[in-house]
Amino acid sequence: MNFSIGFDKRDLPKVHEAFDKIVASNKWTEGYYTELFENKWADMNKLGSVAFSSWAGAALAALDFYNLKGKTVLCPSNTFMATPLATLQAGAEVQFVDCNKFDLCMSFDDMKAKAEKYKPAAIWVVHIGGHLAFEIEKIAAYCKENNIILLEDCAHAAGASWNGKNPGEWGDAGFYSFYATKTVTTGEGGMLVSKHKDVIEHAKKFRNYGKFDYVVRGLNYRMTEFQAAIGAIETDRLKEIIDFKNDYALTLDPQYNNRIKLPDGMISGYYKYIVFDPIEKSTGKVYDEQCHRILKHDVELPNSDWVAGNHWCVPIYYNP
Ligand SMILES: Cc1ncc(COP(=O)(O)O)c(C=O)c1O
Repeated sequence: MNFSIGFDKRDLPKVHEAFDKIVASNKWTEGYYTELFENKWADMNKLGSVAFSSWAGAALAALDFYNLKGKTVLCPSNTFMATPLATLQAGAEVQFVDCNKFDLCMSFDDMKAKAEKYKPAAIWVVHIGGHLAFEIEKIAAYCKENNIILLEDCAHAAGASWNGKNPGEWGDAGFYSFYATKTVTTGEGGMLVSKHKDVIEHAKKFRNYGKFDYVVRGLNYRMTEFQAAIGAIETDRLKEIIDFKNDYALTLDPQYNNRIKLPDGMISGYYKYIVFDPIEKSTGKVYDEQCHRILKHDVELPNSDWVAGNHWCVPIYYNP
């Protein structure tokens, strides 16, 4: 199975029609399709949704809202550098947390130990590979009890759910990426989701230079109407894409017993199909190098180091 973008060619006429409409409307940004995409995402995710030009813009909007400058933020090391870099860009200090071997996501025990040591203002959970962090319930409960902001990196998690709960529902805000390899892609793009109305209002201003009162100090993180039209069309296809990937995963399972095994009630978006034995045609590692190593933090994270060397990804792409 070769890489293919999760776009259904049967949707091309819809894209052409939308592009014609956009050209005719003379409104190429912040128009009908941006709102349509946000509304569709909000309906699907049951959370307020604001479209951005990237995951990074969406993350910066929330980090700015929570005013984390000078504060400590816990972050798993097993993630893309985007997560710690956005946090550093917002002026916060990052302390890295280990992951579990069974889900590749943040370890509750190490998170608790680091939270007691560093007293963080916020904690990142990253849903690695398309499933949800298996310990998200415990992490969210801990954050609530201790008044810690919970941020969910949902970059991989489009289409995932756990007993009907969606990515971003546990945290104060969540962030999707629509980068070109993701399950839903607009080429480039992102979506902030949140149950908090004030986060949503802040995000809308942040992506647009704080217009019009300029109290919010954002920059330009707007999505174009062309990207938003593709996003809206892709959102309508998402269930089909996820069903396709889940059916395909079922055919892989008997061959790969040593793999990530999902808990009851969890549906993965299968951005990746992760196994723990070497395979011939791996699409590579999710991450080859852990962030604490790249940023040269002097901290021992044995599971993160183990994961970097001991997982492989079986190709899994939507290709009807
Ligand atoms: C876990 C994770 N977080 C954040 C990002 C950043 O997303 P973007 O490139 O849309 O800014 C990515 C991927 O690109 C990612 O994999």
